[in-house]
Amino acid sequence: MTTLVRGAGQLLTLRGDRGPRRGKALRDLGLVPNGAVLIQDGVIVDSGPRRRIERLPAARHARVIEAEGRVVMPGFVDSHTHLIFGRPRLVDYEMRLAGASYAEIAAAGGGILSSVEAVRSLSAARLATQGRAFLSAMARHGTTTLEAKSGYGLDEAGEIKTLRVLAALDGDPLDIAPTYLGAHATPPEYRGHASAYVDWMAGEVMPQIGRRKLAQFVDVYCDAGAFTLDQARLHLQNARSLGFDLKIHAEQFSRSGAARLAVEMEAASADHLEQAGEDEIRALGQSNTVATLLPGSVFHLGLRCYAPARALIEAGAAVALATDFNPGTSPTFSMQMVFSLACTEMRMSPAEAIVAGTINGAHAIRRADRVGSLEAGKQADLIVLNVSDYRELPYYFGTNNVHLTIKRGVVLS
Ligand code: NIG
Ligand code: FE
Repeated sequence: MTTLVRGAGQLLTLRGDRGPRRGKALRDLGLVPNGAVLIQDGVIVDSGPRRRIERLPAARHARVIEAEGRVVMPGFVDSHTHLIFGRPRLVDYEMRLAGASYAEIAAAGGGILSSVEAVRSLSAARLATQGRAFLSAMARHGTTTLEAKSGYGLDEAGEIKTLRVLAALDGDPLDIAPTYLGAHATPPEYRGHASAYVDWMAGEVMPQIGRRKLAQFVDVYCDAGAFTLDQARLHLQNARSLGFDLKIHAEQFSRSGAARLAVEMEAASADHLEQAGEDEIRALGQSNTVATLLPGSVFHLGLRCYAPARALIEAGAAVALATDFNPGTSPTFSMQMVFSLACTEMRMSPAEAIVAGTINGAHAIRRADRVGSLEAGKQADLIVLNVSDYRELPYYFGTNNVHLTIKRGVVLS
């Protein structure tokens, strides 16, 4: 099956160097006016100026999708989500609106542990139905690949159930990079014994997850009230020795040193970074660890402490943007809303936001060889926007600017 997408008023190819984009490259969209993309069997044959692409032999009998002057670009790569969580936390939300903090809500029986109760009690089928509904909303909003974490089961059955649900949803049609986040909170069974829980995950759970290939990454929430820096280091060392790639929830509510740990351990990404200081910024700027910013959680919590995006970019960090879709801090699956927040609240430019939500997101999940740009040989994951200038994407905030989502060459309805 051959498809030609043509008439893109602005084709954003995002082509460029193989590594994560930083500095000037973080603003380079590889923009081609009047562009086209030729797709064969779900893979990009070539992309570029319409005249050249239309002349390729394979274009002759292709089915044509007319973009009619719209922006055409890679689908979003949402590199940080907690997709499977059971139920929305509406009581937490109302408590917070009445003035309670994230920590106070957790202490009152809400927070992560209330989602743990939900996930443990629901069947895999129910969790899959919920996940599928979120995935189709994500696809309608332009996401074509995402990372998704466990972390609301915590015991063996709950975590394996979550990761199996993710495996069942993977590729249908969105691609999911699965992450084991057993180190999200200490479960009730280990209350007061976080270190014993870390040992148990290493001895009992991670070897199983590794054997069954249920996760690509292991993540840890390192923060006051969660896991300490030493526990996080040990957990990540255990994970690495079992062959997992690494991620860290770092510097979200307190400055813990987790971002530097991420660099030291060559983690794929350090995520959040709202409290990152000069040392963390410098360390990330000199590393290949992607600095993944999640402004949706700052917005939803009604805080003002957005991550220091400009300082990170000036220090040379490879910045990515993701939704952090989860029931406690960021119930949005819209990468477009995240771009609006990144521009308005963190002073990123529209071009930087787009690079951060496509190719750098792909680097954050170590899939930049397959997704994140419209280049020959990559998966044909692209979106046609309802706008003719890419700057309109963050500008029209809180709306869905996606006209069509195309996954592996197939138009999703
Ligand atoms: O990324 N802070 C840790 N984890 C999530 C929130 C999880 C929750 O509240 O359910 C986050 O913000
Ligand atoms: Fe998160």
